[in-house]
Amino acid sequence: MTGLPWDASYHDGQPPWDIGRPQAAIVRVASEGGFAGAVLDAGCGTGENALHVASLGLPVLGFDVAETALTIAREKAHDRGLEVEFVAADAFHLERLGRTFQTVLDCGLFHSFDDEERPRYAASLASVTEQGGTLYVLCFSDEGPDTGPHPISQTQLREAFNLGTGWNVGAIEPDRVQTRFHDNGAPAWFATIKRV
Ligand SMILES: C[S@@+](CC[C@H](N)C(=O)[O-])C[C@H]1O[C@@H](n2cnc3c(N)ncnc32)[C@H](O)[C@@H]1O
Repeated sequence: MTGLPWDASYHDGQPPWDIGRPQAAIVRVASEGGFAGAVLDAGCGTGENALHVASLGLPVLGFDVAETALTIAREKAHDRGLEVEFVAADAFHLERLGRTFQTVLDCGLFHSFDDEERPRYAASLASVTEQGGTLYVLCFSDEGPDTGPHPISQTQLREAFNLGTGWNVGAIEPDRVQTRFHDNGAPAWFATIKRV
């Protein structure tokens, strides 16, 4: 999807990734106490993951380039009585947010970037993540049948998030990304990455 107008994906109903509920991996990690402090949801779409984390009582900012998705996310927050900030921002210039976060979440954004973009994105994320903070990346993996459209290898994750870009990969576990077109989700990596 790199370079395509993301907003258009939200014009004619729900795009394939917009499942109308939080990703199971995020619900699991949240239930294990994996979120703390101020939370950033990168490429939040219509906000289900951000709203789930906010429902636990944490302050959450979701950002996206798609204004249509942000409008839907704000409506959901209003309807559910949750306070979540949803703002337009470019993942490659997050320093412009002018604030930092203890936990950062990426569901489906990292895997949309190409080889040249991934390290730039990692550096941008580092600029808004507190030292010792945690980044979770849920992305399509390159292992297993029925892989998603932008499969990522463990090597690509480790190349993007390295000490040079301010990160240390703690764990990369096999997981699933739920979509509207997979009965049991698509093969995924769930990466836990520390800001150093
Ligand atoms: C695959 S969707 C995932 C959306 C959401 N995280 C979810 O799980 O439903 C990727 C999202 O990233 C957004 N996006 C793509 N490029 C972006 C960029 N450079 N900066 C901010 N958001 C971006 C898209 O508009 C889209 O909403």
